[in-house]
Amino acid sequence: MLDPVCIAADERMPEGAAIIRFEKVSKRFGPLVVFDNLSLDIPADETLVVMGPSGVGKSVLLKLIVGLLRPDSGEIYFHGRRIDTLSEAALEPIRKRFGFLFQMGALFDSMTVGENVAFPLRQQGIRSDDHIRDVVHEKLSIVGLEGIDQKMPGDLSGGQRKRVALARALAMNPEVVLYDEPTTGLDPIRSDVINELILKLKEELKVTGIVVTHDMTSAFKVADHIVMLLEGKIIARGTSNEIRSCKDERVCRFIHGRASEEDLKALHRM
Ligand SMILES: Nc1ncnc2c1ncn2[C@@H]1O[C@H](COP(=O)(O)OP(=O)(O)OP(=O)(O)O)[C@@H](O)[C@H]1O
Ligand SMILES: [Mg+2]
Repeated sequence: MLDPVCIAADERMPEGAAIIRFEKVSKRFGPLVVFDNLSLDIPADETLVVMGPSGVGKSVLLKLIVGLLRPDSGEIYFHGRRIDTLSEAALEPIRKRFGFLFQMGALFDSMTVGENVAFPLRQQGIRSDDHIRDVVHEKLSIVGLEGIDQKMPGDLSGGQRKRVALARALAMNPEVVLYDEPTTGLDPIRSDVINELILKLKEELKVTGIVVTHDMTSAFKVADHIVMLLEGKIIARGTSNEIRSCKDERVCRFIHGRASEEDLKALHRM
């Protein structure tokens, strides 16, 4: 049962308000059911936080959005256009409208910071060195790292690497940025720098953000809405305040980091 404070997970948004829409999406890997008839509207110009336990399918959700994975059934729409059935070639121009901050940061360690940020531009066939230099400087300055383009990723801190990865995700001026655990592994101050960046990108560049995170401080700070995934479904949806006051025991335990008796069973056997 959904707590009344949480907005019903299956409540639909007004027509046209969703930039991304999942309609009864199912995804499994062999016997493992990750999503079972999942419907979700992602509003434009907002930040949606997706939370849920490890292995629940948060990264899979992001990969479904950009077509790195395809659903087994159901439909995915971007700006009202069905995208899950598009060929790789037809997806190409749509993918350009997304920036993906991957869970592991995934910088190319053999390239300088500048070459990393320039990578998506070169991949798109942009040749002008002057233009590329300008874009690299602009994106590094957005993330507060101007002047480090000649450094190697191995010489950077974890927080700096995340910001370089974010600069790279911004290279093509994306409309939507997908952040997969952007603050994981960072200290609270560096995490907050990332939170402020997410807020800044929404406010100044009107980026729609989808943030996957376990970091509840970050979630409550950046979210316009939060959804919680559990066992293939959305079990709660609401604003930060609504999720904070949600009475659903599973949501409470998750946001306060309290294990259930079931979670602790293995310990009792020790
Ligand atoms: N390509 C794949 N092939 C087979 N199984 C996969 C694949 N991708 C994901 N899975 C499985 O799907 C489930 C969901 O994975 P996913 O990476 O989305 O979890 P997550 O919620 O992002 O977890 P975490 O918080 O640990 O990153 C996991 O059990 C994972 O092992
Ligand atoms: Mg993940």
